[in-house]
Amino acid sequence: MDSKKFTIVTYGCQMNEHDSEKMAGILSDMGYEWTEDKAEADVILFNTCCVREHAEQRVYGNIGMLKPLKQVNPDLIIGVCGCMMQQEGMAQKLAQTFPFVDIIFGTHNLNELPKLIDEAKASKFTVVDIHEQDHEFDESMPIRRASKVSAWVTVMYGCNNFCTYCIVPYVRGREHSRRADDIVNEVKELADQGYKEITLLGQNVNSYGKDSDEKVEFADLLRMLDDIEGVERIRFTTSHPKDLSDNLIYAMRDCKKVCHQLHLPVQSGSTRILRRMNRHYTKEGYLELVEKIKANIPDIALSTDIIVGFPGETDEDFEDTLDVVRRAQYDLAYTFIYSKRSGTPAAKLEDPTPREIKQQRLQRLIDLQTAITREKNQRLNGAVVEVLVEGPSRNGKGQMMGRTAGNKVVNFEGDASLIGKLVDVLITEPSTWFLNGRLMNVK
Ligand code: 5AD
Ligand code: SF4
Repeated sequence: MDSKKFTIVTYGCQMNEHDSEKMAGILSDMGYEWTEDKAEADVILFNTCCVREHAEQRVYGNIGMLKPLKQVNPDLIIGVCGCMMQQEGMAQKLAQTFPFVDIIFGTHNLNELPKLIDEAKASKFTVVDIHEQDHEFDESMPIRRASKVSAWVTVMYGCNNFCTYCIVPYVRGREHSRRADDIVNEVKELADQGYKEITLLGQNVNSYGKDSDEKVEFADLLRMLDDIEGVERIRFTTSHPKDLSDNLIYAMRDCKKVCHQLHLPVQSGSTRILRRMNRHYTKEGYLELVEKIKANIPDIALSTDIIVGFPGETDEDFEDTLDVVRRAQYDLAYTFIYSKRSGTPAAKLEDPTPREIKQQRLQRLIDLQTAITREKNQRLNGAVVEVLVEGPSRNGKGQMMGRTAGNKVVNFEGDASLIGKLVDVLITEPSTWFLNGRLMNVK
């Protein structure tokens, strides 16, 4: 008999992607095999996101489309989990809207998946199991990683910041740092398995250790990981500007393997709006921080997140955002129109700005950032960059792709034997979203 198969559809951030790797690990341990094809799956999981309304709507649409599969295969188990399910009343609402969903669970009890599947098999009704917060995190969860080269490692869970627009602290709970030893051991194991790049994950990695008695701060953790043999690159995300210490800047500068790349969400350039967002920094403070980082790490690649149209944002506030973008010279910016999340403080604020105006602001912001990204990439024309090869390129030309230390995508002629290797590539054709080049040297 063919083995049973599963698939997972993931929405949202890297944290969610990594949770899906954990659920994939659990299902693999149970004897299920991964499939891309929903039609042949015995278990289909939706790992949801609720950061913006758009992500939620996509989830609804896509779950609705599964009903016919359930009619063909009544034994199919459909599960919905992740951040959206941690919202109050959401699990019940979903179970009512889609009675054919078998299990609903949250972000704090992934490890109960085998039990939930068993219960679902024995029940005609939707099994709902949402936990508030689980400090007894199970370190032994198996992980089925999507890449063989680059691995995510969680350093902390949750968020204590309560930015007024953000739902994350409500669905992911309070900050909880993993023990430094556990992180170091996981990275050592990954190095032994041949992983070359480690990306450390947390909603705000800069507050790593503040909830623990270990007296290891994030900069110390980077220094500990920098010594691990076999790892070539270390990245991390996300950094809150209010908590980014000088010590971290020095660690980034001094550690051999820590990439000179930083995701530093500004959210808005207006001090007035930043206060209303509860971000705890000003426009000037942020720009000074950027200057300090650039002074210490001149080749830093900076990226950011920006929300346009926060309630009460005026043209003047928005001009401040454009000003910060011009001055910070980001390599990349993720830009969003504000999305009202019920239960957050910002949801109670007056929001008189018409949608068209927000859309126009977003377009101006995207145009400005695109020009900056394009110009920065143009400057790499003729340069030789170090690339960690990840796998086949998606450009359809049979090429390989990898990334620079600054996280820019590079495509070049090469074969699969290069996967996982560091190579030098001469950039011959830079464009806005990727760089094309010629392989010069394998390290
Ligand atoms: N509306 C729009 N964007 C949001 N983000 C978080 N909450 C919202 C919201 N309510 C953005 C922030 C954050 C990124 C992950 O998503 O910019 O950094
Ligand atoms: Fe949300 Fe702010 Fe926490 Fe980031 S730092 S997850 S934006 S509350």
